[in-house]
Amino acid sequence: MNIGIIGGTGPLGRGLALRWTQVGHTVYLGSRTLPKAKQVVDEMGSVLSDGSYMKGELLPASNEEAVTNCELAVLAVPAAADEEFIRQLKPALQGKILIDCTVALDPNDVTHVPPAHVATAVNLQSLLGRHIRVVAGFHTIAASKLAKLEQTLSDDTFFAGDDPEAKAAAMGLATEIGLRAFDIGSLEDAGTLKRITAMLIGLNKRYKRRAIGVKLTGI
Ligand SMILES: NC(=O)c1ccc[n+]([C@@H]2O[C@H](COP(=O)([O-])OP(=O)(O)OC[C@H]3O[C@@H](n4cnc5c(N)ncnc54)[C@H](OP(=O)(O)O)[C@@H]3O)[C@@H](O)[C@H]2O)c1
Repeated sequence: MNIGIIGGTGPLGRGLALRWTQVGHTVYLGSRTLPKAKQVVDEMGSVLSDGSYMKGELLPASNEEAVTNCELAVLAVPAAADEEFIRQLKPALQGKILIDCTVALDPNDVTHVPPAHVATAVNLQSLLGRHIRVVAGFHTIAASKLAKLEQTLSDDTFFAGDDPEAKAAAMGLATEIGLRAFDIGSLEDAGTLKRITAMLIGLNKRYKRRAIGVKLTGI
């Protein structure tokens, strides 16, 4: 599949890009500036050529090119990215699936999501309209864990969305890289995921860890 990562130059975008390239997808690593995307892909070249076998291809792109060339896009920018930024990508996103990974943490306390920001996936869906199917997911996976290709992933991860087909596609992309994917319900439920991310950041701080994840039992 062709995957476009909006904000692919950040830790989360890079980590997902590596994992998806490894299993055979063509990944367009998007940035607001093409030179930055090229620089990051060049830097990632050392990981890609260190013996880790990559079945797919990783390509630098502007965010617009990443979205135009993909079948499924991933939003991996800070939640503070303004509406105009998203609106500019709307024409190229028509008919596609968009996975929203963003978490709007409180800048004064990153272990907390301000209540007004909990339902950002719902706001995103209404901004984009029904021809772009938004799924919320990958919030509870630490980028640092994704980047360690020598480590097999085994975390559980959770998806919220209103379109079953879009949600299944997003969950498939998680399963392919070793994660166990669970459907937690409608897009409204994405707020729960964002709060869990804030909880995990708090746990990392309290227990001096970097990549605490979630594993369900009894299922
Ligand atoms: N890091 C994690 O472990 C993790 C885990 C789960 C969820 N998340 C969430 O996933 C999202 C991405 O995480 P991250 O740590 O990779 O974020 P990040 O490094 O802060 O940002 C990712 C990229 O977004 C672009 N960007 C920055 N400010 C922007 C703006 N105002 N408008 C548009 N693009 C902008 C930048 O790319 P260019 O300069 O190249 O355009 C940047 O490299 C965040 O919302 C985060 O809360 C992160």
